[in-house]
Amino acid sequence: MPLSKEIPLAAPSEQLKTRLENRTAKIGIMGLGYVGLPLALLFTEEKFQITGFDVDKKKVDTLNAGGSYIYRIPSTEIQQARGKGFVATADASKISEMDAVIICVPTPLNEYHEPDLSFITDTTHSIAPHLRAGQLVVLESTTYPGTTEEVMIPILEKENQGGLKAARKEAFTGKEFFVAFSPEREDPGNTTVARRDIPKVVGGLDPQAAEMAAAMKELEKAGVKGLVLDLRFNRPEIGTLVLLTRGDRERPRRWHSGNEDVRQALLQDRRLVCSGLRTAPRPHEGVFSLS
Ligand SMILES: NC(=O)c1ccc[n+]([C@@H]2O[C@H](COP(=O)([O-])OP(=O)(O)OC[C@H]3O[C@@H](n4cnc5c(N)ncnc54)[C@H](O)[C@@H]3O)[C@@H](O)[C@H]2O)c1
Repeated sequence: MPLSKEIPLAAPSEQLKTRLENRTAKIGIMGLGYVGLPLALLFTEEKFQITGFDVDKKKVDTLNAGGSYIYRIPSTEIQQARGKGFVATADASKISEMDAVIICVPTPLNEYHEPDLSFITDTTHSIAPHLRAGQLVVLESTTYPGTTEEVMIPILEKENQGGLKAARKEAFTGKEFFVAFSPEREDPGNTTVARRDIPKVVGGLDPQAAEMAAAMKELEKAGVKGLVLDLRFNRPEIGTLVLLTRGDRERPRRWHSGNEDVRQALLQDRRLVCSGLRTAPRPHEGVFSLS
């Protein structure tokens, strides 16, 4: 199924998109908790080779022995995933084997009720030495605007071994990696909306990263197709690609009109956030179809 043809992709991102589409991409999920483990199982169901990374050796050993530590995930699901190639590890050096890495580590508030980003920085320090050109790093943890650009990217750029830079422009030298933000939007306890049906929001540091992350999220949600509402701004957390679920043929159209209101509300919201951050939203780049 072709994904968006609107954004011409440079070679590395085109290759990754192809690997995502034909399921040969290797995806690493960092943080195998309430978000990361179900995500790993979802991707495994979609026939991807998934490696789960966690610093908690007990969790790694439990998973590799076919056990579960999350009450709503029965051990049988882990065993099925293991049979399909899912493996857990505490060895960060295996990151170099991944095409894309999704970070799902905690972001609690500290004792002063400020966001504690230490799990994100620890994870970023562990990724950086193993980063390869063309890899995609997606932050899925809940956080505030600026985290990818001001916290993660400086670490990734400084501590990688190949002098790699985050892709920020359309001209590529082949020494770039890609960064996107796509927060987990699961609503715990909500029994009326399945996780697969929750539209994902994806913001890329550059259009290629947004496009690749959107491709990955589309596959994660298995069968998602329809409209991409492209609200790319100059920060991944602010920029969004809203992927809408595919239903009957009429649904995308209904989504479209419904989402025009949402889009306007989001734009207004982002303008307020941007003015607080003393940054300006990029012009809206249009709504286009994935079909
Ligand atoms: N749980 C939810 O329903 C939910 C919903 C929406 C958003 N979120 C957000 O998703 C993120 C993850 O939440 P969660 O509930 O899955 O957390 P969690 O505590 O259940 O799991 C986090 C996992 O990350 C691991 N970890 C910590 N540091 C690590 C590192 N340096 N490298 C590798 N692994 C590391 C921990 O051992 C743990 O297994 C948070 O930002 C949270 O706010 C969670």
